[in-house]
Amino acid sequence: MNAVRLLLCALLLLAGCRGAEPGVYWGFERMIEQPRYPAYGKNPLFADGRAMRTPPEGTVPRDEYPGDSLVTEGMEGGGYTERVPLQMTRELMTLGRHRFEIYCAPCHGVAGDAASPVATSMQLRPPPSLHLPRIRALPAGRLYQIIVDGYGLMPTYRDLLSLEERWAVVAYVQALQLSQHALVAELPEAVRADVLRELARAGTASGEGHGEEGELDGTGEAAPLDEAGRRNGEGGP
Ligand code: HEC
Repeated sequence: MNAVRLLLCALLLLAGCRGAEPGVYWGFERMIEQPRYPAYGKNPLFADGRAMRTPPEGTVPRDEYPGDSLVTEGMEGGGYTERVPLQMTRELMTLGRHRFEIYCAPCHGVAGDAASPVATSMQLRPPPSLHLPRIRALPAGRLYQIIVDGYGLMPTYRDLLSLEERWAVVAYVQALQLSQHALVAELPEAVRADVLRELARAGTASGEGHGEEGELDGTGEAAPLDEAGRRNGEGGP
């Protein structure tokens, strides 16, 4: 008996789906069949009878920015710009870090050193470390263009990053590169003392003069670290 009642209810509900209004089709296809004009179709609403409209004068496509090609393309005098053409601020750097960690780190690693699950498992061509000497030598404008156009197997980030965000990421990538290759002698006074202390500690702990993270690609730029570590080690207890 219950089963019959249920069946009756279901039938009633289904009947309700048809709707009473003439001309309105309430079938499930209503999501597919939406009233619209085909691209080259007619539209009597406009004087010229065409459905397609010309954008209002002065309309700028979303991915095109009016203005300086240095900023929009990263080119200067026929070559890539060496420097990020936006004003360098802490906010820009913070934005760059944020976007890098969302959009680049999954493949290139949070430190840019390709220590990521993707990089270690990708068979075809793993994302490279951004600290490789060849990539470190790329000018800012080239990094910008890689973000805009993609590179080989790497997709474009044109649609995901605004103009400012792209340059912010470039700035942050360069900061990351510098962070792995800075000379101790070039650090600001206050930071240098801290670094030397840390190095001395690391050096004595591992029984070597090397700061373990001083080198990523064996360019030997970490040499001053050894010297500093030793100097500090001698003065220690
Ligand atoms: C889906 C993984 C992936 C993501 C995410 C990714 N990349 Fe890449 N990237 C790659 C791969 C793979 C290559 C090497 C491509 C090749 O050689 O075909 C590469 C290469 C590069 C290179 C080196 C180009 C050269 O000249 O060798 C740079 C620089 C770079 N990526 C920067 C970035 C930046 C900046 C971001 C974030 C906006 C990013 N990548 C996001 C996978 C990725």
